[in-house]
Amino acid sequence: MSVEANTPVTKLFEPHFWKDSNRKLEYYLDKMDGYKMAKKVLTEMTPDQVIDEVKKANLRGRGGAGFPMGMKWSFIPKVDKPKYLVINADESEPGTCKDRQIIRYTPHALIEGIIIGSHAIGCKHSYIYIRGEYAREAKLLQEAIDEAYAKGYLGQNILGTQNTLDITIHRGAGAYICGEETGLLNSLEGKRGEPRVKPPFPAVSGAFACPTAVNNVESVATVPFVMRMGGDNFAKLGKIDKSGGTRLISLSGHVNKPGVYEIGAGSMTLRQIIEDLGGGVWKGRKLKAVVPGGSSAPVLSADEIDVVYDVEPLQKVGTMMGSAAIMVCDDTTDMVKLLLRVTKFYAHESCGQCTPCREGCQWMESILHRIVHHPHDGKAKPSDIDMLTDIAGNIGGKTLCALGDAAAGPVISFIKKFRPEFEAYVRGDVKERVRHA
Ligand SMILES: Cc1cc2nc3c(=O)[nH]c(=O)nc-3n(C[C@H](O)[C@H](O)[C@H](O)COP(=O)(O)O)c2cc1C
Ligand code: SF4
Repeated sequence: MSVEANTPVTKLFEPHFWKDSNRKLEYYLDKMDGYKMAKKVLTEMTPDQVIDEVKKANLRGRGGAGFPMGMKWSFIPKVDKPKYLVINADESEPGTCKDRQIIRYTPHALIEGIIIGSHAIGCKHSYIYIRGEYAREAKLLQEAIDEAYAKGYLGQNILGTQNTLDITIHRGAGAYICGEETGLLNSLEGKRGEPRVKPPFPAVSGAFACPTAVNNVESVATVPFVMRMGGDNFAKLGKIDKSGGTRLISLSGHVNKPGVYEIGAGSMTLRQIIEDLGGGVWKGRKLKAVVPGGSSAPVLSADEIDVVYDVEPLQKVGTMMGSAAIMVCDDTTDMVKLLLRVTKFYAHESCGQCTPCREGCQWMESILHRIVHHPHDGKAKPSDIDMLTDIAGNIGGKTLCALGDAAAGPVISFIKKFRPEFEAYVRGDVKERVRHA
């Protein structure tokens, strides 16, 4: 499937990236019409009107699941309890680095989005949970928050209204599982970062047992653009019915021009992104595989990339868009070693609550380890390959959170699409260690 080339796209974030001075409040006010929408929303719109606009925009969550934002906010009950908007800045899915760009260069878009979202759900204290490794970004974000407090955009009587809103940054300590929304909430509360049993969902009982919306950085930073353009116009930036606006894509691996790119949702195929934006596969080599949505996404082989890059088209070909992190593998990539690396990550990051995930990930790592490192001493066996698929099949869909699926999907898809490479290893035919992975 191909998408008409040169479809005009309005880029919301990308033109403001890369220049340090752009993160300052003056820039946001002068060049991005900053905080005008927050003022308008607080003074002229009811919470339901804000939610309706976001629904019209077809703004899907950018954190991985693609859940409609307006709908998520409408689930927050109008009860007499504190409500929380918690921003997921954990950005822990391997390959993903788009939220970092927003925090570095357009932090005020995130803060304005928090003001608008807080009005929509009745939140007076919002938390930003940021991954521990983003020490510099946490500092930059705090500077932007301080600027907003100093101008009266945060705190009491914000923007000259009766509203109160505080924002607190909470730094994580390096656990992937704290990106999962309920693991995040436990960690925020000072508990172990272990996912919770759902239901109850965070909308009903989230942070401190109160109604909570957990949203990704990009999702919330996009909201001021929705309000500026109007939901209908924003929706039209997307070329797929259910996906409005633009998407920030983290493109990495064996391409000539890796980076964070912004495209209209569903406006390009995976091939167009790799070739037109990424400048094609590096060093004049051929494409071997693409992991299209962060390391959790099942792998696609080189002949499967003529697919529109958005949620449903990718689901149709058996993979997912996830956090929109595309990782490109050239024809020298050792897929067996790459899978070992990915599986090692999930085994390490499993929180250990569910038996299939805790035990299964460890076993998959051990088996892959002996396939890669002991092909010549009889420890690796041909039956290991099917055993891997069997173990993965017993993890997917049987765990408390989606980390189990994230670990199983790559194993199943790598073996399905690159089985001869696994067979060559167990036969002891892989003489030369290939560099990548
Ligand atoms: C293991 C795991 C890790 C996750 N990591 C992140 C993350 O780093 N950032 C993020 O925004 N969402 C992450 N998610 C998704 C969140 O649980 C949640 O769906 C998201 O924050 C909701 O925001 P959105 O609706 O704006 O997309 C993760 C999910 C799982 C299962
Ligand atoms: S699936 Fe894995 S990471 Fe998720 S709760 Fe279970 S053991 Fe923890």
